[in-house]
Amino acid sequence: MATEPIKQMVINPDAPADSLERKQAHIDNGVEVLNKERYFDREFMQREADNVWAKAWLLAGLVSDLPTVGDYFIFDVGLESIIVTRTKEGIGAFYNVCSHRGCRLVKAERGNRKVFVCPFHSWSFNNDGSLRHVTDSETFRSEVLCNNIDLEAVNCEEQAGIIFINMSENPPPLEQGLGLPVGYLEAYNIDRMKVVRHVSSEWAANWKIGVEAFYECYHLHAVHPETRGVMGDLNVQYDLYPAGASRMIVPLGQPSPRAGDQESVNEGLQGMLQEAGVDPDSFVGTARDVRRAIQLSKRARAEELGLDYSRLEDGQLSDSWATGLFPNVQIGCHPEGVFIMRFLPHPSDPEKFYYDTMTLTFPVKETEAKPPAWMGIPEGTDLTGQARPDCEHFGIGEDANLGLVLSQDSDLLPIVQRGLHSRGFKGELWGEQEQRIRHFHTELDRYLVAGD
Ligand code: FES
Ligand SMILES: [Fe+2]
Repeated sequence: MATEPIKQMVINPDAPADSLERKQAHIDNGVEVLNKERYFDREFMQREADNVWAKAWLLAGLVSDLPTVGDYFIFDVGLESIIVTRTKEGIGAFYNVCSHRGCRLVKAERGNRKVFVCPFHSWSFNNDGSLRHVTDSETFRSEVLCNNIDLEAVNCEEQAGIIFINMSENPPPLEQGLGLPVGYLEAYNIDRMKVVRHVSSEWAANWKIGVEAFYECYHLHAVHPETRGVMGDLNVQYDLYPAGASRMIVPLGQPSPRAGDQESVNEGLQGMLQEAGVDPDSFVGTARDVRRAIQLSKRARAEELGLDYSRLEDGQLSDSWATGLFPNVQIGCHPEGVFIMRFLPHPSDPEKFYYDTMTLTFPVKETEAKPPAWMGIPEGTDLTGQARPDCEHFGIGEDANLGLVLSQDSDLLPIVQRGLHSRGFKGELWGEQEQRIRHFHTELDRYLVAGD
């Protein structure tokens, strides 16, 4: 029996065909209930390592983190570790492993080195990956040293100020792998932003449970009820792009349609008006007028604040465009800053992942506009962009100081993970507010089938 199509929310019905705000054509990913073993089975985890992590383009870091020749950072994913570094020729990536006996070459997460010296027998490598020195080379027979001595390179490309790596031998072009329309990420000027905070916390759930929790607004009313006054959680536009990419436009500056009061300019809305440069005390209008007032005020103040909104739609000035890149990234895109989250697999345990978040803003010397309060940047954080902060690491259950909303998620996810094991649970049932999740799994399965 054919079912009625479910109504899809559209943020701006007048958005022209070439606007990034335009609702994307529907993609039907079916209605199948997928196997739940994917969230805890070790064999499944290995298939992901071989067919997804080793084949897909992965967000490794930011170009702004490598300003000078010799600057490097380490990108760990599962059991792999990769050195991403600025060489004289540009940005390059290499497996972080010594060609002698497999010792991990570099331990410090970031720094500046023209030469990497192995801690085991002190072979050394130039930062372009070439071998520099073999200790006591005269004690090796020449056949032993005749090949595979340089560091093994990894495909590495930049887009919109972001560095992506790909471990497969013949990766698809980056743009095809990302799936987003041309100019989508570029519009936010991420290449001019700096990382002001980097936090990695370990959560007791499979990495996909992490991705899923950030791919929908369906849970906001239950898990994050304090968002009710300022987020239109039922007015979200969900969009699916090729290659597993997706986006949700979450209107900010409006009460949830679930809230009884759609008129009062509540405290949260007043705070948003204030941040956008509108005096809440003299604001004339109701809650229905706040989102538009924010857009108009930001547009009017852009030049004065030194911000370039020229490639952003009005909706982008108020709303959160939470943008998902397959397999493990979501970027919260905002005109004043972006919040990059990565869901990184644990090296050996399918029931743990690392929630790695980087907050980027424009250096304050360039602009007076502060990142919005909800981004949860702690008081006293250096916003000048002068010094790249170290990554702060937190273990399971430790308070990573990520703010109320994220701690609500980190408390909940292990409870979901445990529930998945129950004999009484057959598999996840996704509604249309969760269409991004099904789209993500459809792409995941495509990678797995192609690799098997
Ligand atoms: S393992 Fe690196 S020098 Fe021996
Ligand atoms: Fe959440």
